[in-house]
Amino acid sequence: MDIIAFMMVFFLLILKQISMIQFKEVLEEKDNGEGQLLHQAVSNNDDRLLDELLSQEKYRKFINCRSGWGIPRTPLRMAASKGHLRCLQVLLAHGAEVDCLDVKAQTPLFTAVCGKYFNCVLALLRAGANPNGSLYNNCSPVLTAAREGDVEILKQLLKHGAEVNSRSKVLLFTSSASVSSGPLYLSAVYGHLDCFKVLLLYGADPNYNCTDAKLLSKIKQPKTVLEMCLRHGCGVEYIQLLIDFGANVYLPTLIIEKSTKQNEAVELLLQERGFPKSLVSQCRLAIRGYLRKINRIQSIDHLEMPSSMINFLQYKSVPTIAMHL
Ligand SMILES: *[C@@H]1O[C@H](CO)[C@@H](O)[C@H](O)[C@H]1NC(C)=O
Ligand SMILES: *[C@@H]1O[C@H](CO)[C@@H](O)[C@H](O)[C@H]1NC(C)=O
Repeated sequence: MDIIAFMMVFFLLILKQISMIQFKEVLEEKDNGEGQLLHQAVSNNDDRLLDELLSQEKYRKFINCRSGWGIPRTPLRMAASKGHLRCLQVLLAHGAEVDCLDVKAQTPLFTAVCGKYFNCVLALLRAGANPNGSLYNNCSPVLTAAREGDVEILKQLLKHGAEVNSRSKVLLFTSSASVSSGPLYLSAVYGHLDCFKVLLLYGADPNYNCTDAKLLSKIKQPKTVLEMCLRHGCGVEYIQLLIDFGANVYLPTLIIEKSTKQNEAVELLLQERGFPKSLVSQCRLAIRGYLRKINRIQSIDHLEMPSSMINFLQYKSVPTIAMHL
């Protein structure tokens, strides 16, 4: 009796599958003849054919249509992930939706960053792509660029207003270490000093990998970036930058390491605890802190000041006057 019932259920299930496949085929026939052709053109990097197709209304209707094996994706997402710049430009010129998400909540910008396609990243940002990627994605373009050490891509993202610290909203939903770590911490651990400095220049918090005070208070023993750099044996350059960018040198508690590099870093920290910063350094931190507060950290280069001062504010050089203070 049981076996018969089981067979019947099984049979019904198979029947349902078949009808669903047929239904899907009908749908695809109706939709995807044109969409498929667009995808093919992008896949072949044939921007001329793509342009020709998109000049016809019949095809343009399918400019944002998702298709393809595995992850269904829009033609723009495909062009971005393959680094097919000219196709990407054609799609944008014909009005493709710039921030369409795939099933993993990845935007075309995010996939271009993953592929390290600088020109595609730039084209997407200029077309108005959200530099933060999607909030529903566990990772962000900035995190990816910081981890991979793509300093030019990172600069462009930040120039276009990307968030420089971890996104606290995501932090609440996931325990993934790479997310809670924050881009500053990732760039240190992966040894990308240039990215580390760029993040600090764009206002990354030098103390915690989280700027949400409420969230911070919920974490039992929040670790400072300084502390994590010491633990991971990051070079003394990282410690120096953190100090220069105003990290609180009194926060880290642990200091138990052996390597020489580590000792050098610890020594620097202890030295810094003994001597307060120079007044010019304090001024620089105060000015930068204020600009960050009013969201104008990117405007430093446009301040009405002698260029030597601006260079100092941007950590490019020490003005001669600072030597005498
Ligand atoms: C990206 O994040 C920053 C910082 O949270 C925010 O100010 C900016 O508006 C976001 N950009 C977009 C396009 O959502
Ligand atoms: C900072 O990153 C570390 C390492 O991933 C994590 O353990 C810690 O909870 C993070 N801190 C905050 C405040 O998010």
